[in-house]
Amino acid sequence: MALIDSDPRAPLPKRVDALFATLAAADTAGYIGEPVSQLAHALQAAHRAAAADDEALALAALLHDIGHLADPDAPQMQGLGAADHERIGRAVCDRLGFAPRVGRLVESHVAAKRYLARRAAYDGKLSEASRRTLTFQGGPMSDAEAAAFEADPDHKAMLRLRACDEAAKDPDAAVPGLDHWRPIVERHLQAQAIDAVLAPLRAPPTDAQLAAWRRDHLLVLPGLLDGRGLAALEAWTADLQARPETPGKWMKYFERGTAARQLCRVEDFVPHHAGFEALLCGPPLMAWLTRLMGQPACLFKEKINFKLPGGAGFTAHQDAPAFDAFGHRYHITVLIAVDPQTRTNGGLEFSDPIDEGTLLPQRSDGSVAEEVEARLPWHPLDLSPGSVAFFDSYIPHRSGPNRSDRPRRGLYVTYNRAADGDRRADYFADKRATFPPEIEREPGVDYLSKAGRYNVGNPIR
Ligand SMILES: [Fe+2]
Ligand SMILES: [Fe+2]
Repeated sequence: MALIDSDPRAPLPKRVDALFATLAAADTAGYIGEPVSQLAHALQAAHRAAAADDEALALAALLHDIGHLADPDAPQMQGLGAADHERIGRAVCDRLGFAPRVGRLVESHVAAKRYLARRAAYDGKLSEASRRTLTFQGGPMSDAEAAAFEADPDHKAMLRLRACDEAAKDPDAAVPGLDHWRPIVERHLQAQAIDAVLAPLRAPPTDAQLAAWRRDHLLVLPGLLDGRGLAALEAWTADLQARPETPGKWMKYFERGTAARQLCRVEDFVPHHAGFEALLCGPPLMAWLTRLMGQPACLFKEKINFKLPGGAGFTAHQDAPAFDAFGHRYHITVLIAVDPQTRTNGGLEFSDPIDEGTLLPQRSDGSVAEEVEARLPWHPLDLSPGSVAFFDSYIPHRSGPNRSDRPRRGLYVTYNRAADGDRRADYFADKRATFPPEIEREPGVDYLSKAGRYNVGNPIR
């Protein structure tokens, strides 16, 4: 797959692999009319830019010509590389998840050349190939274009990048290789993803939201995450989905419908995923929970329900009876929709709020008794991807099967009052012992009949 087609929602290691494979292959790609390969040119430019102590500038230097390598079908400038390579380059940087400034700097390197080309002396600095491409790129800037370029607050960095570009054509230069840049790129993309996911949560709840929460015990923030934040959330989810079952780590549970065994849920992943840890334990979301609880909150447990096509629903239940073994009385669960949640794909339905401490009559498996369920009002909650919903552990809820042909993935993260103690580790230790993920099960043991609180209303087998 060409780099220009990389999926921004793919797991980070996959995107980094695709980028570095493209750069590594440029070791043999001649840099049109220059005495170095495209890879050597990129590494030299990046090494020079790194002296400025500006990470985005260094990464832009590494990637400034990626537009020549990213799209084999791009229209060419008569043997001088891809036309519009600066815009292709920016699109690639954006798709891969770099800071927006990296893409802007990448795109600017042709504009900077056209700006500098207004000076007669600059022409002598350009290589023969660079002088020929200048014609394709529009020639020297007009006065109006030059004024607009100078008005860009980042234009000094753009000129610095251009200088690094022009100096990066030395066949004898010895600079750090691609291996040096991989961890820098990984850290950058990880930090960008975390930033994008956390940003919309930094605004505290409004008075109207707090009043709605007290009234309904349910608060919905429609489409809170979008764009880069939603792409990052999808990438993190795809990452966990793709990870192999591993004893002692993330807990993967499966269901078996008419179709083959399919992933139903993953739990206990916060210790193994820096992005989800920052989202679920970081200050922005914790501040929301503290406001809604009226006192400090503490993470109790986290899971992603995948509800793949055909995945079964969850019978009507209150969460409180399933959570009562750890001395807790009250919880708030945060639902973050990765995919749309609708009536067709098994989105949640809520009943009316119920006071803390009140439990409805139950079936033997802990779900709400049938005659009670039939009497209750039920309100479907349609959510767009990136929506966030908070609900407490007493409000009854249920969901139907996924009758669509797409997954319906959602995070369900539960918090308790910090004053009631941090029991997350105890919870997962007890669950692993009682109802372990399949990869940790002993053959011949009947876990299902002992699952009790760990399988209330669930389709897991
Ligand atoms: Fe270029
Ligand atoms: Fe270049």
